[in-house]
Amino acid sequence: MTRRLAPPRPITNLRRALCRTLAAVGFATACSAATPAGPGDSARATAPPRLATLADRAQLRLGAAVHDTEVEAFAAKAGRDFNSMTPANALKWGSLLVGGKLGSYDFRQADALVNLALAKPVRLRGHTLVWGRYAGHGHPADLEATVQAAPDPRRELERLMAEHIGAVVGHYRGRITQWDAVNEPLDLQKPEWDDNVFYRTLGPEFVGIAFQIAHTVDPSLELVLNEQLSLYDDEHAEKFFGIIQHLHDTGAPIHGVGLQSHLLSTVPSIASLKRFMRRIAELGLFIEITELDARISLFGDAPDPAAAQGRFFRDVAAACLEEPACRGITVWGISDRYSWLDTFPPFDASRPNAPLLFDHDMRRKPAYQGFVDALAQAPAGRLTAAQ
Ligand code: XIL
Repeated sequence: MTRRLAPPRPITNLRRALCRTLAAVGFATACSAATPAGPGDSARATAPPRLATLADRAQLRLGAAVHDTEVEAFAAKAGRDFNSMTPANALKWGSLLVGGKLGSYDFRQADALVNLALAKPVRLRGHTLVWGRYAGHGHPADLEATVQAAPDPRRELERLMAEHIGAVVGHYRGRITQWDAVNEPLDLQKPEWDDNVFYRTLGPEFVGIAFQIAHTVDPSLELVLNEQLSLYDDEHAEKFFGIIQHLHDTGAPIHGVGLQSHLLSTVPSIASLKRFMRRIAELGLFIEITELDARISLFGDAPDPAAAQGRFFRDVAAACLEEPACRGITVWGISDRYSWLDTFPPFDASRPNAPLLFDHDMRRKPAYQGFVDALAQAPAGRLTAAQ
């Protein structure tokens, strides 16, 4: 008896079946381009390319800050959506000290995060060595009292800074190559120096001292001055530029400038951001956008606030990609579910602030698509091309 063979299935059907199987085990986009979309396939067919792939092509460091609530989320996205990472809190002076006070260090939590990133195709930003805001977290809770009690407070603070920077930079030597040497030298509201223990004890020169110590400990480091500005063409921005210029003119080992870019109360003009970046570039320094997030309420007047937020993310990315000195963009968190703004006064009062690339349930937002759109326009190898 001869067995009747089933007629061969058309190749497209086979392919579609294979694609469905692949999609079911997590390769959602594996066949989207090759397969005509069937019912229910539209989301897969239009899934955008992953950000890290586009960022690598454009020679842009695209990073996320990682809080302890998002370690797993980052592990899943590292090398797919992000090719850079900043520990959000783990490397701050107070976080590294047992009990947040001067004494012994406990690097275990920070090491776990750093090593997780290093196991992936990801660059690390160190944040931060010297930060005057928030005693206990930003710097040791007992730093000021200890310095005041010393016979020579200036010498004591310099000694403690050298000890701290030496310990941390030494511990991460070869693993972290770029550090925010100083964070937020200015007051957040007024165009004046932040009134903190470093400024009160050492005057404005504390910034240059911190850079010099870090450079002496490891001359191969890229050292960055990081600041939060709301606008790029006001007195505050000028005050910050003055500090950068002074460091540059006095030969301090500063290599880059970090523009935090939290959108807290206003949406800056992209033209002013571009001009500000150009001025920094003309001093021979690089720029990183280090802490981007944008409260959704700032786009509340638009017919579709999420879409307007997406256009803002697109325009920031395009501005950075257009400026050869702009090396990277880091967003301050991954999903809206864990944004720091939702637990940080006064912004907690307006939660959900929804300021990031992924929504509460980890779905890509228009902000994600904004990055895709900007990156897709960037010439491949833009930095090499600009040399
Ligand atoms: C924030 C963290 O996201 C919070 O978890 C923490 O409670 C306070 O600090 N500018 C900075 C960051 O330089 O270090 C801050 O991070 C956000 C503002």
